[in-house]
Amino acid sequence: MSGGRLITFEGVEGCGKSTQLLLLARHLQRRGIAFVTTREPGGTALGERVRELLLDPRLVPAPAAELFLFEAARAQVVAEVVKPALLAGSTVLSDRFADSSLAYQGGARGIPAATVARLNELACAGLVPDRTLVFDLDVELAFGRARRRPSTTADNRRFEDEATAFHQAVAEAYRDLARREPARVAVVDARGTPDEVHERTKAAVADLFP
Ligand SMILES: Nc1ncnc2c1ncn2[C@@H]1O[C@H](COP(=O)(O)OP(=O)(O)O)[C@@H](O)[C@H]1O
Ligand SMILES: [Mg+2]
Repeated sequence: MSGGRLITFEGVEGCGKSTQLLLLARHLQRRGIAFVTTREPGGTALGERVRELLLDPRLVPAPAAELFLFEAARAQVVAEVVKPALLAGSTVLSDRFADSSLAYQGGARGIPAATVARLNELACAGLVPDRTLVFDLDVELAFGRARRRPSTTADNRRFEDEATAFHQAVAEAYRDLARREPARVAVVDARGTPDEVHERTKAAVADLFP
């Protein structure tokens, strides 16, 4: 039995991560590949409580506080969900993972990348994704999609409410990451229909499932 793979879904709000995760999950299911899905922040009871704090627009965490909250949720989901699943031979699909902190708390909030990377390492217990998919879409377009989706509410829109410049910085940080780690990080063109993007997504992970 081949070992499980860790595949993470990244990109700005509204680029299609959750939609594509669901489509890839269905694809793996059809192929009989064991997998679990999870999300960040969240994926555990503790993480989902932390998620509420992080997304609530009435709260304004200092950048370092925001980073620590994300890392707390991350450490928990790695320990409770991701590591055990991989050890059991299951593939893990994660809607956001450690690279989100590099892009948001690093690139957009300005915390030095080396600091974020160090905390990511601690939270992930050294675990690195086998493939990270960065869904690349014009920020304004992605943003429009995010604001219209039914799951965006007054209680969870803190990041959606950030200015366009913030999201541009996030997108740039993701592109930087892909340039620095081309073997791990695949940029997926997120334009077009969900099915069109799904075809590109499958191509970007095909080598992991020979
Ligand atoms: N390729 C696409 N074309 C048009 N709308 C899309 C596409 N992919 C997703 N959507 C819609 O856009 C919104 C944001 O997509 P979602 O998958 O939630 O993005 P993310 O998880 O990256 O924030 C949702 O309402 C979703 O149904
Ligand atoms: Mg989503």
